[in-house]
Amino acid sequence: MVERIMPEPFRIKMVEPVRVPDGAQREKALEIGHCNMFGLRSEDIYIDLLTDSGTGAMSKQQWAALMRGDEAYAGADSFFALKNAVKDVLGFDYVIPTHQGRAAENVVFGTLAKKGDIIPFNMPFDTTRAHIFNVEAEPVDCVIDEAFEPEVQHPFKGNVDVAKLERAIAEYGRERIPLIMITVTNNSGGGQPVSLENLRAVSGVAKKHGIPLFLDAARMAENAWFIKMREESCRNMSLAAILRACMDTADAITCSAKKDPLVNIGGMICCRTEALYQALLPRVILFEGFATYGGLAGRDLEALAQGLREMTDEQYMAHRVAQVKYLGDLLEEGGVPFVKPTGGHAIFIDAAAFLPHIPQTAYPADVLSIEIYREGAIRGIGLGALAFAIEDEKTGKLILPKLELYRLAINRRTYTNSHMEYVAESIVNVYKRREKIRYGLKVEYAPPVKGLHHFLAHLKPYTL
Ligand code: F0G
Repeated sequence: MVERIMPEPFRIKMVEPVRVPDGAQREKALEIGHCNMFGLRSEDIYIDLLTDSGTGAMSKQQWAALMRGDEAYAGADSFFALKNAVKDVLGFDYVIPTHQGRAAENVVFGTLAKKGDIIPFNMPFDTTRAHIFNVEAEPVDCVIDEAFEPEVQHPFKGNVDVAKLERAIAEYGRERIPLIMITVTNNSGGGQPVSLENLRAVSGVAKKHGIPLFLDAARMAENAWFIKMREESCRNMSLAAILRACMDTADAITCSAKKDPLVNIGGMICCRTEALYQALLPRVILFEGFATYGGLAGRDLEALAQGLREMTDEQYMAHRVAQVKYLGDLLEEGGVPFVKPTGGHAIFIDAAAFLPHIPQTAYPADVLSIEIYREGAIRGIGLGALAFAIEDEKTGKLILPKLELYRLAINRRTYTNSHMEYVAESIVNVYKRREKIRYGLKVEYAPPVKGLHHFLAHLKPYTL
């Protein structure tokens, strides 16, 4: 039985009309977009769950804060509003604004990593991984084995396997490891959280070896909420206190502010020492902008400062996570296989189990994207072989990822619970006709950059 959903803790002040395109319009859009969800136009979509990044609704306090934006090139008031919010909410003394998360990654990996280096991770997301490749370094996944079993229930499937991490450090050597990074929540593995206990354990290992620990903190508040719900020792702590305790384990964070911090554009690096701050600044000035705006307008800094304070509102977060779970429960009722337990920002359908008759080399997650778009004008995204397969440099053979997922990312404060019901019904309809879906996809074009295929690929269906 699906439980009655928690009502939205907001009311709607401004509406953005969305329309349902008819079948012919959908087919045309697929053709023009080369069957790639990134190739579709917003006007051809009814419910857009491509990403939860930059797509949330700002609060009235954020809109009001825009008017306070100080656009001074250096030393703007708005930078200090951000600096104060970072100190209050996250406890870091230094903040570098960037235009979004991958810009923070460019600054961090471009400054600290070099050819032949290794970055131990739980699992990096696509752009993070691409930035590591870009400096000819390699990420090493050290996530627990349960992360690769979609049906296995585990409260913290994003956790690092500390033994794997220790083995990686021993195998590659401390000198090849400029930093360790943990993504909270683990986006590539289903939006799954990392426990505070695990963060502390990894922090201990990092300190022992003298390696800085970074968090990729895009979804740090959702991660802290799962800790509150699932980690016994934290049950009576506030969301804000748990978030702070998580931050205390790290030397620095990179953050896409387009997720939990509730802005349409923005990112940042936060750190504790002046030495690291100073080391990172030259690359910020080269690629982003001066140290106190980093590629953002003053008004963006204000919206971000306010968003950081709002993300720890417990009523907001309780509904946010409950809404994602509601969609999961409705899909579960319809028998649709997805990564359990439900993650923080998205449902990750197990495309390999949904379409077991389509081989992974024919991109079942992306076939599912097409079919769900056809069914309900809903846009999600395949996160399987197309996004994560890489060619072995020595043998030229394709190394396929262990998971073949299709993600429905839920935008913050944007869609209603009844939209979730529509999405579930459409996907259950596709599930009922899954055996009739008998085609695969060929890549007709892909950009010649490692790790970026899925964004720009032209796909062509072929009968299996
Ligand atoms: N880290 C994580 C965990 C992310 O999920 C993303 C973006 C980034 C870094 C990069 O941040 O987009 O601001 O440059 N994820 C989006 C997604 C795009 O759809 O999950 P960005």
